[in-house]
Amino acid sequence: MNNFELYNPVNYIFGKDQIEKLSELVPSNAKVLIAYGGGSIFKNGIHEQVSKALAGFKIVEFGGIEANPHFETLMKAVEIVRNQKIDFILAVGGGSVIDGVKFISAASHYEGNAEDILRKKILFKEGANVVPFGTVLTLSATGSEMNSGAVVTIAATQEKLTLGGSALFPKFSIVDPTVINSLPKRQLQNGVVDAFTHVLEQYLTYPHDAILQDRFSESILKTLIDIGPSVVEHPTDYKLASNFVWCATMALNGLIQKGVPSDWATHMIGHELTALYNIDHARTLAIIGPNLYKVMLDTKKEKLAQYGERVWNITPNSETPEQVEELALKAIQKTIDFFETMGMKLKLSENTPNYQDTADVIVARFEERGWKALGEKQNITPEKVRQIVEMSY
Ligand code: NZQ
Ligand code: ZN
Repeated sequence: MNNFELYNPVNYIFGKDQIEKLSELVPSNAKVLIAYGGGSIFKNGIHEQVSKALAGFKIVEFGGIEANPHFETLMKAVEIVRNQKIDFILAVGGGSVIDGVKFISAASHYEGNAEDILRKKILFKEGANVVPFGTVLTLSATGSEMNSGAVVTIAATQEKLTLGGSALFPKFSIVDPTVINSLPKRQLQNGVVDAFTHVLEQYLTYPHDAILQDRFSESILKTLIDIGPSVVEHPTDYKLASNFVWCATMALNGLIQKGVPSDWATHMIGHELTALYNIDHARTLAIIGPNLYKVMLDTKKEKLAQYGERVWNITPNSETPEQVEELALKAIQKTIDFFETMGMKLKLSENTPNYQDTADVIVARFEERGWKALGEKQNITPEKVRQIVEMSY
């Protein structure tokens, strides 16, 4: 097992009616910016619950953070934080609003060019350099409620870039499973597939000796397979909803990643598809993931075989190299079938009409950024990226 540090300071508050606790969680003398997205929180009653809980607090509101949040929009909120001397931010939304708030938190005290936060990957480690924030999660998918990473799009150049650092963990996150009742089916499907792929990014690498981490990952995958198709149909079923939201958090709160290699190339390629064509994040993962596993079969086949055997219950018969490969390919097919069951369209051409030169564009971008190779073995070269993307057309 690799050495690791486990640091996660998020006060994770789970369950029904927990939004009421906001009055105890938000510092009492703070001037609070409530940040939200396109307005779903007004339709499903979450805005009302938040306002009621924070009655008497000094509140400023900032709405309109779009899905795949734009740097340009977030900078307007940064101005408000600076001019109105905001000392606490409350994100009320899904991954986009929470990620947006992480950026606002980091950029508000940043003295240089705020684009550098994204382009130069500046790590935020000092609490004094960020504005503290908490979250009320409304869409389970990204795990952003319990991690310190974020993804922001510079709309002007169609680039989707990451930021993070240990100062960017939320102070608290309220996760009430009943909030998913109002989610459109498409977003529920996205949530299951995003969480599932987060586990695969940290699990489908190569055999190692972190036995417990493998079992953590397999348990999240198996739970998502069990409940995913039904939660999409019955989001008001509390048993399904509560297990789903907990899986999504556990998939990317850092725990399963400790001491093990991880990949993340599916995400890095997928982000380009969202930046270029505005395809939903989870849907880009379903397009790229299975093809990446096929192209990287040599590197990943042992772990794919383990996944096939333990997660998909494919009868083990993996003694010879040929049998390992056969099992690995069956496991990829099971993943494809699952994604299709979850409503994903796995070809790029089914998601956008303008896909023809995508591989060229993505490879050129990676080369421009100096990304020589991705993946757990740093062997997903630009040539492999080209192959994976072309296979996805
Ligand atoms: O904007 P509103 O009106 O609120 O509507 C949103 C949005 O249109 C709607 N929605 C959210 N909660 C709802 C609801 N509609 C009805 N009822 C509710 N309770 O859903 C739509 C999508 O929301 P969004 O926040 O964009 O979805 P998601 O949570 O999937 O977040 C996606 C973003 O997170 C990033 C993605 O790249 C993408 O930008 N990710 C963040 C990660 C992280 N911070 O760790 C990791 C992920 O891999 C991912 O990259
Ligand atoms: Zn993701």
